[in-house]
Amino acid sequence: MSKLHLGVLGSGAGSNMQSIVDAIEAGTLDADIKIVLADVADAKILERGKKHGIRSEYLDCAPWKTKLEGPAEDRCIEILKAAGVDTVVLAGFMRIIKPKLLAAFPNRVLNIHPALLPAFPGVHSWTQALDYGCKVAGVTVHFVDSGTDSGPIIVQKAVPVLEDDTPETLHARIQVQEHLAFPEALRLLASDSLTIEGRRVRIK
Ligand code: GAR
Repeated sequence: MSKLHLGVLGSGAGSNMQSIVDAIEAGTLDADIKIVLADVADAKILERGKKHGIRSEYLDCAPWKTKLEGPAEDRCIEILKAAGVDTVVLAGFMRIIKPKLLAAFPNRVLNIHPALLPAFPGVHSWTQALDYGCKVAGVTVHFVDSGTDSGPIIVQKAVPVLEDDTPETLHARIQVQEHLAFPEALRLLASDSLTIEGRRVRIK
């Protein structure tokens, strides 16, 4: 077992971070969250972090809108390292991660994506699944590599697409599974159960 020292990056509501906090507080995940960083100044994830006594700060990622690069990336790495982070969790962080941050935390950056990858990478994946006519949708937790939503898969969970689903109802059903999937993936990592062989993540 190796206790995880997490740094959480987010952009929005932070419900996935909340599921990780809840697992830690319930004693079902051997981890602590050292810091929460959000690229949106008034993101609810910061409020949630503070409520749980976690250092939670805005990270100005300008001038870029869709990636974490340049001085902001350097600052992010510096802050995460100084805070004692060994594992970076992308919990609804809506920016592309570049190789520098990945190199600073090799095989230690995890992302949650609201689709059964490799289907529907990118944004609004649940709407893409609905528009495509999928009968099943879901969630993926994966190691991050230099592609978009393309790294080795750790956990996937499926949900049915119902006849009367809207993007909102489908996303809500996916989020219920997200909140199980992220703590589950981190539990596997904390118990040293994961090895990466090419694209495949083996679970001991
Ligand atoms: C989640 O549905 C997550 O899967 C998605 O953003 C939402 C964040 O919700 N992430 C992506 O789309 C990344 N490509 P949260 O802020 O409540 O955790």
